[in-house]
Amino acid sequence: MSKPDKPLKQIHLAAHFPGVNNTTVWADPEAGSQIDFSSFVHLARTAERAKFDFLFLAEGLRLREQNGLIYDLDVVGRPDTFTVLSALAAVTERLGLAGTINSTFNEPYEVARQFASLDHLSGGRAAWNVVTSWDAFTGENFRRGGFLPQDARYARAQEFLAAAKVLFGSWRGDEIVADKESGVYLGDPEAGRFDHHSEQFDITGRFNVPRSPQGRPVIFQAGDSEAGREFAAAGADAIFTRHGTLEAGKEFYADVKGRLARHGRTHDELKILPGVTFVLGDTPEEAEEKAALIRRQQVSGQTAIKLLEQVWNRDLSAYDPDGPLPDVDPDPGEHTVAKGRASVRQHGDPLAVARRYREIAEAKKLSIRDLIIEVSSRQSFIGTPESVATEINHFVQSDGSDGFILVPHLTPGGLDVFADQVVPLLQEWGVHRTEYEGTTLREHLGLSADTF
Ligand SMILES: Cc1cc2nc3c(=O)[nH]c(=O)nc-3n(C[C@H](O)[C@H](O)[C@H](O)COP(=O)(O)O)c2cc1C
Repeated sequence: MSKPDKPLKQIHLAAHFPGVNNTTVWADPEAGSQIDFSSFVHLARTAERAKFDFLFLAEGLRLREQNGLIYDLDVVGRPDTFTVLSALAAVTERLGLAGTINSTFNEPYEVARQFASLDHLSGGRAAWNVVTSWDAFTGENFRRGGFLPQDARYARAQEFLAAAKVLFGSWRGDEIVADKESGVYLGDPEAGRFDHHSEQFDITGRFNVPRSPQGRPVIFQAGDSEAGREFAAAGADAIFTRHGTLEAGKEFYADVKGRLARHGRTHDELKILPGVTFVLGDTPEEAEEKAALIRRQQVSGQTAIKLLEQVWNRDLSAYDPDGPLPDVDPDPGEHTVAKGRASVRQHGDPLAVARRYREIAEAKKLSIRDLIIEVSSRQSFIGTPESVATEINHFVQSDGSDGFILVPHLTPGGLDVFADQVVPLLQEWGVHRTEYEGTTLREHLGLSADTF
């Protein structure tokens, strides 16, 4: 726990809309639509009731495929981020609204315009998670096709963000006079003028959205490579990370916070927020039992085979998920089986992964399905409300993170139990707000108002 002379950190909490990912269970009787607006409203209102910092939308710009077919073992299809967040701005008052928007396939002018508009509509609650995307497969949906190799994407992201910041900064906020007596509307004829030239962008003109309440949206980053971490340290306000265990969290936290000084930034200017799942029960045993059931819902026999195919990089449909691992080795060639998934990149050397899987399966006598459940487990907090609140608090006070982006497994009611049972404990312990103190997301996150 924290040293007695160190004040307790406030825990930043956010809600990830449980949409297209392999933890969302769509087949549960309690699962609802991931498209209906009522689902977004439900999650947003729960998060706001629990005084969360923001609601977070991930993005995928192409439907995932496996063996040439749409991957419908997970939820399929999602509506456009700006449309959803704009509508949510009207039915919430304080909750931040964070959208994942790609810097590889868009243009700075249109993205800056959309975020500045969202910031106006929401009264200063907009955040932009700048992602670069990893695959040419997604790029095929766009005019230029799958352009830009991996290492060039961060170069573009840096330039994209720099260009967007120029656009956001092209209005100072005092240009509009709108004096009905004199008939003068604009007090500064230079309003919105910009001129930005870099390797990727050569843009000159006028930005047509006057300065928004936050000046610019809060900037998130969500990539884990060396380039991604540097990008975050140089210019992001927060990172969405996968480092959800305390040990990995501490390492990541120290690494990224350690980079800030080199960029002339202080320790508190970048918040680190791992995406985590949770399962609650009245007793530890009940929580464990529920967690095991949820894992089996998340990893059906068919899902287990499909996930194994992503490592083996070949068709394994003839195998029995309740039987042993295939005796053939993975195909070490280029990944061709699954398209549009981050996990494909993360598997690393397939032969080494297969060897590790075989060792685990043999040692624990696991079938294919049980092995996949074991190795793909992402439930970070399992227990009673009291033990989960304690663990979350310990994680943050030990500098494993500054808070969490919670990923419920059910749409849209999956966060309710957390809001009702865990949040009140954190509030009682003085580590989570009982009321919003500010109106902007920047204020919720404890970030300085000086955005440029
Ligand atoms: C926790 C996490 C969440 C991400 N969420 C998204 C997402 O919703 N949409 C997307 O296109 N990319 C997403 N990404 C991908 C990254 O933005 C990035 O493009 C990718 O990880 C490649 O960068 P890297 O090599 O630095 O990891 C996510 C990455 C991480 C680590």
